[in-house]
Amino acid sequence: MLPSSLPEPELYLPRSGEPSLRWGIVGPGWIAGEFAKAVRAHTAQRIVAVGSRSLDRASSFAAAHGIDYALGSIGQLVTHPEVDVVYVATPHSEHLGVGLAAIAAGKHVLIEKPITVSAAGAQALADAARAAGVLVMEAMWSRYLPQASVIRRLLDDGVLGEIRAVLADHGQALPTDPWHRLNRPELGGGALLDLGIYPMQFSSMILGAPTRVVAVGAMAETGVDAHATVALTHEGGAQSTLYTSMRARTPTTASVAGSEATLDLAGSFYSPTSFTLSGSGHFGPSLAWSDPTGLTRFDGLSWEANALARFVGEGRTESPVHTLDETVRILATIDAARAQLAA
Ligand SMILES: NC(=O)c1ccc[n+]([C@@H]2O[C@H](COP(=O)([O-])OP(=O)(O)OC[C@H]3O[C@@H](n4cnc5c(N)ncnc54)[C@H](OP(=O)(O)O)[C@@H]3O)[C@@H](O)[C@H]2O)c1
Repeated sequence: MLPSSLPEPELYLPRSGEPSLRWGIVGPGWIAGEFAKAVRAHTAQRIVAVGSRSLDRASSFAAAHGIDYALGSIGQLVTHPEVDVVYVATPHSEHLGVGLAAIAAGKHVLIEKPITVSAAGAQALADAARAAGVLVMEAMWSRYLPQASVIRRLLDDGVLGEIRAVLADHGQALPTDPWHRLNRPELGGGALLDLGIYPMQFSSMILGAPTRVVAVGAMAETGVDAHATVALTHEGGAQSTLYTSMRARTPTTASVAGSEATLDLAGSFYSPTSFTLSGSGHFGPSLAWSDPTGLTRFDGLSWEANALARFVGEGRTESPVHTLDETVRILATIDAARAQLAA
């Protein structure tokens, strides 16, 4: 039986008691620009500094986004006395070093996905954050979107029954230039770490860690994974079938099949989207949900910034909806899949 209506989303609304933190950005590239726009438009957070390997690049980013301090080294940014939180938006390979430096300077840290390139690195960040008593969180923005809270509530209420399967994909036609960060092994390139982490984290949110990982796929000429299908078996026999590619755009949808109901998220499932909850019978009734907030696409990055500020205000040192232990486990699954592809 479907419920008569769907739960209201729990929103990380700005100006709802959270502190207005002073943020510093490391890595003024593409996503940093989207993040800065979203934070400025949809939060009460203040981006006060930006750090780059080049003072010129920091200065032009600062000018474009109305940021006070442009700093020509990452070290200056992470130790800046007027910065409370460091947002790390460098290539994956740099996340660990920058994250550890920011933690050592006593800053809270929001690190772009993947938090780093291996479970061991993620564990090192978690250990350092716990020892320092600061909040460290992977910028897995999907977890803080309005739809995520509704889905968690449906799962907690048992509306889907016993979960049998998760299906999810994330493929994009990304640059084939061998110098692009995604094609370079030394920068943590490859589809699984950059795009595959979205289906992986979705599966983890629904079914937890797998008991078995089987990956097939193909490598790019530069030695990174170009596309992969990953089958996960979970306790009790539930299956996740996940696909990722950096050579072709795929539907970017996600589904959760339960004994009582099925949830279908429209593409792009990892960004603000809509979903349908259908009963288990053919052609039965269904309920439709769409994001009521009006925030679309990369506006959605603002939710994770509001969430981090709320968590800091609550005295938390990790995200309650994406714990550091879970972050490490997801990287361990990706480690296993990448090792099978490389073998
Ligand atoms: N949440 C999302 O939707 C989303 C979307 C895209 C990307 N991301 C994540 O964000 C991170 C950055 O991705 P991006 O696409 O924004 O990359 P990008 O455009 O290449 O920007 C990365 C920036 O990092 C700096 N950097 C520091 N060390 C570097 C190094 N060794 N090599 C190259 N650049 C270095 C560079 O700035 P300077 O040279 O000025 O220092 C560069 O502009 C990745 O981890 C990615 O997974 C998240």
